[in-house]
Amino acid sequence: MSVILAIESSCDETGVAVVRDGREVLCNALATQIDLHKAFGGVVPELASRQHTRVITQLVEQAVQEAGLNVPGRPPAGDLKLDAIAATNGPGLMGALLVGSCFARSLALAWQLPFIPVQHIEGHLFSAFLGDPPPEFPFLALVVSGGHTQLINCRAAHDYEILATTRDDAVGESFDKVARLLNLPYPGGPSIQRAAEGGNPNAYDLPRSMRGKDTMAFSYSGLKTAVLYTLQAGDANTADLAASFQEAAIDILVIKTRQVLKQTGLNRLVLAGGVAANRLLRERLSELPGISVHMPPFAYCMDNAAMIASAADSLLAHGRTSGLDTVPDPSLPLILK
Ligand code: KG4
Ligand code: ZN
Repeated sequence: MSVILAIESSCDETGVAVVRDGREVLCNALATQIDLHKAFGGVVPELASRQHTRVITQLVEQAVQEAGLNVPGRPPAGDLKLDAIAATNGPGLMGALLVGSCFARSLALAWQLPFIPVQHIEGHLFSAFLGDPPPEFPFLALVVSGGHTQLINCRAAHDYEILATTRDDAVGESFDKVARLLNLPYPGGPSIQRAAEGGNPNAYDLPRSMRGKDTMAFSYSGLKTAVLYTLQAGDANTADLAASFQEAAIDILVIKTRQVLKQTGLNRLVLAGGVAANRLLRERLSELPGISVHMPPFAYCMDNAAMIASAADSLLAHGRTSGLDTVPDPSLPLILK
């Protein structure tokens, strides 16, 4: 039994959540910066850090009120006591990570609670535990975000093996880059999904890289270049090209996931990361025969603090708290050497 307040600030969303026992979300406050970065076509790190600083106090205040927390030095909003404070520790933008981490460590200091640093991808993995039913270990995880495209053998909590990763662009990154080529707004994933709705997914013949059975890797730069060449050839239809790109990008994920499920003999699959919000991907994976697929609810696909609190709950149970001098690492790996 634990109640954890967690902060996520690794990129362009500020999140503060309170979660009980790793599964029950009592508050999931989120401030997105999409409008701030839209004009630049992508995240501007310095602006992101400044915006996190502006909203974080207010979000912590909201979390205290909504969850009904009783914390030292202020009138009780309820009678719930916290057991620990957590924050994303990397990977991400250093300035952005520092805002959440420093705030969380200050709270831990003031409220005399343990501090739990959480690796962002491990947070995404735990977003599946916020859905019903929660997955059981061992399982294969497909982590698809703006920075990651990975298949991970999750043998037990905090015991992972990366089986496949991308050689170049991440799948979310390719959605963002192709959206820019098609003059669709940032973030590219949702824009392409919307544009693709009215398009023909077979209109353009785009490559599915790394489909060979022995290649334990993804690659997305060839697909992006193929879209560019199609545009340069002239007269491309945006809806058709968006639909054809989405079809190819999702196909690559599904082909490789099927191969690795077969090779490992695992029959449980967890989908996680921002691209997990993609409807076509969710549809295709749920059709895999003999595989029980766990997908986070939409609210927990994109960056949020509830998933960080869920991972922190398990870390706390495994005694994985940390000193208040723990500094974020912008390239923190999932598996420490
Ligand atoms: O996990 P996330 O919120 O942040 C990172 O940790 O990177 O993922 C953001 C990524 C972006 O590249 C965004 O374009 C992509 O997830 N994304 C989508 C969809 N919604 C978000 N990609 C495809 N289809 C979507 N519906
Ligand atoms: Zn993320």
